[in-house]
Amino acid sequence: MRAVVLVGGFGTRLQPLTLSTPKPMLPVGHVPIIERLIANLGRSGISDVTLALGFKSEPFVEAFPTGECAGVVLQYAVEPTPLDTAGAIRFAAEAAGIDDTFVVVNGDVLTDLDVAQLVDFHRDRGAEATLHLIPVPDPSSYGVVGLDAEGRVERFVEKPATGTAPSNLVNAGTYVLEPAVLHRIPSGEKVSIERVTFPAIAAARGLFGLATDDYWIDTGQPEFYLQANLDVLSGIRRHDRGVAVHERATVHETAVIEDGIVGPGATVGAGAVVRRSVVLPGAVVGDHATVTDSMVMGRIGEDAVVHASVIGATGVVAPGEAIHDERRPHPAS
Ligand code: GDD
Ligand code: MG
Repeated sequence: MRAVVLVGGFGTRLQPLTLSTPKPMLPVGHVPIIERLIANLGRSGISDVTLALGFKSEPFVEAFPTGECAGVVLQYAVEPTPLDTAGAIRFAAEAAGIDDTFVVVNGDVLTDLDVAQLVDFHRDRGAEATLHLIPVPDPSSYGVVGLDAEGRVERFVEKPATGTAPSNLVNAGTYVLEPAVLHRIPSGEKVSIERVTFPAIAAARGLFGLATDDYWIDTGQPEFYLQANLDVLSGIRRHDRGVAVHERATVHETAVIEDGIVGPGATVGAGAVVRRSVVLPGAVVGDHATVTDSMVMGRIGEDAVVHASVIGATGVVAPGEAIHDERRPHPAS
């Protein structure tokens, strides 16, 4: 079976990290998100993936130059202008010549779902489209469904105002679609599958959802990107494991790394502390600096204290400076 993976978004909520690296190319446990995602598709029997690209396509092509990723054949479909989720799916499916049941995945989602299980459910129900669903405590930043006892989606509401969600079951960003879905999407136009196409299929009674309790996280927000990294260390993932300190990182013997990841080419100086944080490839944490609940691509000066902050590739924290809940450079600047 074939899949389209959506990777053309701007990654706004992860700026400034995504100013230099597109969100799906950011590492989780030293491996790009997209590679872990595609490996899971491969395990579920997907043989071919088309990446629906727009913004910043070059890093993907450079990372997987042979047209293969985690044992799965890769193709690229680059949109001339961002077409939003449905427009991108139609564009990529047409470019790949898809004319049979296929899978779509949001490129920032990490899950242990067995996609073959979702395909079986889809076929059993004779669905036009089937969503993977996950229960969450606060559904307001996701697509939320109202479901009947057979798994038919009666309502699909994207990002409902707090307190108005029909349930706590959210769209987990993996879909099985019939080619008929493509005919609902006007060619070359900007269309949201969540705001336009899913509500229309639900109204025609062809939209179904399967809730599972698999590991699932949308890495698109800083706290969840950090959590996804920590989750490959803690051993809760079914297949994905990672080491804390990459073999090509330089960590001083007196530095303390506690629930932290240090990437290749990164340096952590003498007496420095890295706790619940990701030090990305090439970043520098100076001597005696403390970094907690943060993500760092740039340079942290000696004796600096950095908490709950996101430091991009060109971001600098001066020696001795203390920051809390900051983004550097600030995305608007
Ligand atoms: N090619 C292309 N073109 N891809 C796009 C475009 C576009 O114009 N716009 C967004 N994408 C991609 C993003 O790169 C991402 O992989 C995916 O579409 C979803 O976009 P996000 O920006 O991550 O959406 P979200 O997290 O707010 O919400 C989506 O995911 C939730 C689950 O994680 C929705 O599908 C929600 O309904 C869902 O609950
Ligand atoms: Mg997302």
